Amino acid sequence: MSIQNLTGDLHSILNSFLDLIGCDGGSIYTLEKNLQGESVLVFKAMITRSLGVEAVPTRLKSLVFRLDESSTVGRTGLQRQVYKEDGRLYQVTADQVPQSKVRSVIDIAMGYETQNLLSAPLLTPRGDLVGVIQLVNKIPGDLESEAIFDEKDERLCGIMSSQAALVIENSTLLVEQEKILDGFVNACVTAIEARDPVTSGHSQRVCDLSLNLAKSVNREEAGALGLIHFNETQMRELRYAAMLHDIGKISVKEDILKKEKKLYPWELHEIEMRFKLMKASYRLQYQGEGNQFELARKVKELEQAYQTILAANEPTVLPKDVSASILELTKLQVQVDENEVCCALHAHESDRLCISRGSLSREERDEIEKHVSFTYEILKMVPWSRGLEQVPVIAHRHHEKLDGTGYPMHVKGEEIPIQSRMLTITDIYDALTAKDRPYKAAVPIDKALAILEDEVKQGKLDGVLFKVFVNSKAYILPGVETSKVKKVA
Ligand SMILES: [Fe+2]
Ligand SMILES: [Fe+2]
Repeated sequence: MSIQNLTGDLHSILNSFLDLIGCDGGSIYTLEKNLQGESVLVFKAMITRSLGVEAVPTRLKSLVFRLDESSTVGRTGLQRQVYKEDGRLYQVTADQVPQSKVRSVIDIAMGYETQNLLSAPLLTPRGDLVGVIQLVNKIPGDLESEAIFDEKDERLCGIMSSQAALVIENSTLLVEQEKILDGFVNACVTAIEARDPVTSGHSQRVCDLSLNLAKSVNREEAGALGLIHFNETQMRELRYAAMLHDIGKISVKEDILKKEKKLYPWELHEIEMRFKLMKASYRLQYQGEGNQFELARKVKELEQAYQTILAANEPTVLPKDVSASILELTKLQVQVDENEVCCALHAHESDRLCISRGSLSREERDEIEKHVSFTYEILKMVPWSRGLEQVPVIAHRHHEKLDGTGYPMHVKGEEIPIQSRMLTITDIYDALTAKDRPYKAAVPIDKALAILEDEVKQGKLDGVLFKVFVNSKAYILPGVETSKVKKVA
């Protein structure tokens, strides 16, 4: 239940009070904490039928009441007792004005005169105070009756108050539950990103971009997206799916997750040591004046070979001639001892260096791709509340493509929920434009959008969503320069 729902429910309850007890107006105040941590009573619902007032007027929304004797609202909360007051008494009994001072502020603001009121605490079955209800200006049942609240009204109010208290308590519990879930989600994201600080901020940015895109979809009035509207709960569902889409990375080996080049640092170090050993062996073999020219040639050959390895180790696209040179280096051997030969490159090292694009081998890529299945397994274990059940499925399909070339299920088209298609767009966009990856320069926004557009043309990404993403500028997060981007026709 959201705050809007609570206000609506309290309004309906207040209307029932007015009908059953028979009075002109009333207000409900809920117990909340102010910025200083003090418990105060805050206006949540107000009805004054003779004035046509159906909600708390804006000018009164900031009015709060302390739990003390300075107002009847505060006194009712403090003492947890029902108070009945007859305004006409104030004129004859000077010491009976606790309500009038504050009530008169409201009366003046509303241009209203409170003649009498009934004020009751809203207590849960456990006896916790959650608010106060006030009813004003009793309407007499017939011409003979007096316009004052009587004991019957008091009893009726007591019975109905417990219903209002339960509504407030349920709402408070739901808000607390949401806060706990938000805290849990943030803690999970912190845990994922602590393992891979290089991609820190990715989950939050994908979340912000996806919500931007969902809001833009909600604004679409025509076409395929005109019929789609994400309500408040669906927005929360998308938010959680976006924040947790990569939670499965928690199960991927850290070395693979952080791998920047084709060789792991310790593998390159081992090769470097072998080259030093080979150089030292040449120096021993080619001693003496007459061998200096040959020694220099051999050393230069080793140095060039090592430079070739360093060039191939970069995660860029590997030129064909470099991969041929790398394969040649597996044949380069130097006798370092009587019975020992040192190889410049072993087969498993040359395999890694011959990766044609990026830094990962097929096996390592498979290992990383497993994060999506782990994401699903982890999220499936969470007992998502009503309306949030699709979080695991939405997150599970964030690497699927419309033509079935994605992973892990290779599902196609309609089998991919719209929320997942949105995540796919925002996830790729952020991976391309992220500025915080030391091993990869950030792609400029216009180029990143061009890459996404290319995937749309290949039938991999949703073109309608992509168009909204670009044209509504949903890709803009605070502090981003976007002047070069053109609209999609
Ligand atoms: Fe992912
Ligand atoms: Fe991601």
